[in-house]
Amino acid sequence: MCGNAGLFIGCAALSYCPQALLTGPTDPVADAAPGSGAPPAAGSAPPQPPGADGQDGYRSPFGSWYERSAVRSTPRREIPAEHGNDRFFSADLVPVARHPLVQGLPRPVHDQVLIQHLYRYLDFTAKLETLVVNRTAVGIAQGSVGLPLPDAMRIDAYRIYCDEAYHALFSADLAQQVRQRTGIAPLLPAEPFFLRRLRALTADGRQDLAALVELLFVTVSETLISASLSEVPNDPMVVPAVSESIRDHAMDEGRHHAYFAAFLHHLWGSLDIRQRQRAALLVPDLIDAFLQPDREAVRAELAGYGLTTDESYQVVAEVFTDEVVAQHTAATARQTVRHFAGLGVLDVPEVQERFLASGLTC
Ligand SMILES: [Fe+2]
Ligand SMILES: [Fe+2]
Repeated sequence: MCGNAGLFIGCAALSYCPQALLTGPTDPVADAAPGSGAPPAAGSAPPQPPGADGQDGYRSPFGSWYERSAVRSTPRREIPAEHGNDRFFSADLVPVARHPLVQGLPRPVHDQVLIQHLYRYLDFTAKLETLVVNRTAVGIAQGSVGLPLPDAMRIDAYRIYCDEAYHALFSADLAQQVRQRTGIAPLLPAEPFFLRRLRALTADGRQDLAALVELLFVTVSETLISASLSEVPNDPMVVPAVSESIRDHAMDEGRHHAYFAAFLHHLWGSLDIRQRQRAALLVPDLIDAFLQPDREAVRAELAGYGLTTDESYQVVAEVFTDEVVAQHTAATARQTVRHFAGLGVLDVPEVQERFLASGLTC
């Protein structure tokens, strides 16, 4: 990989270096496809990467990073030994907790529903940051992603790397504090749902696109996540450490969103027409992989609280209706879709149809 593969044999980054994709031989299947007579490919005339010399056209959103990032400016968020009657997560943000069958559970059991949701959120965060986002951040910082990026973007990628590592740390720390305060052990899947779905997208006949899929997934998730975090209100019933951690995270992710919107611009400009079209067609699946609820895990958890199998199926079916999931996906993804639309991605009928079929508009 980029001249240093031997030094890092076995390193996870070896599996995703997209330089081969961007500079290597073109896809023989795509080559065989009729090119000139085909409809315009995704973003057939998008702007080129800003700054052909890779040095300008980038406005860093990290100007006050040393003063304002969570890792540099916020204290450890601690849950006091005495937290009174406070909950550990807002029931307003846990859809199953509002279902009548779950609301009817005894208070200590209902508290557990919220605590397990918090554990899932914290585990999701720690794994997203360390296993996915920071693989890309370090690739950008060290120049192994094969894109001619401005030096300032590479330095900012190190700042993102620090931010994400801290988000993982304070998530793991908070989970440990909750466990110490409550004595309730986390019930977590071996790996978060989004990771399983991401792996399925990078396998299944798309091996040649695996590197690009991961870059796109990070870009998509980093522009979705700030929308997700901005939904979190200040709930006076929730222990302050939880709300404060989420707020700390949201502040950083606002900067990351701006960064990855700029990164997408550079990435798109470095792809050829065929790659743009193939990449564009993947975006709805990537958004879906990030936002879909893990219905099976929720069902299994509900059964553990004493609900019958039928009741657990009923709760999940009634809470996560197709309509509700579609509305949430469309609303959360709107700004992400706008970024792609701004590159001309939706000008291609096939791509536009794929986005519309997935309920994605801007
Ligand atoms: Fe983060
Ligand atoms: Fe981030």
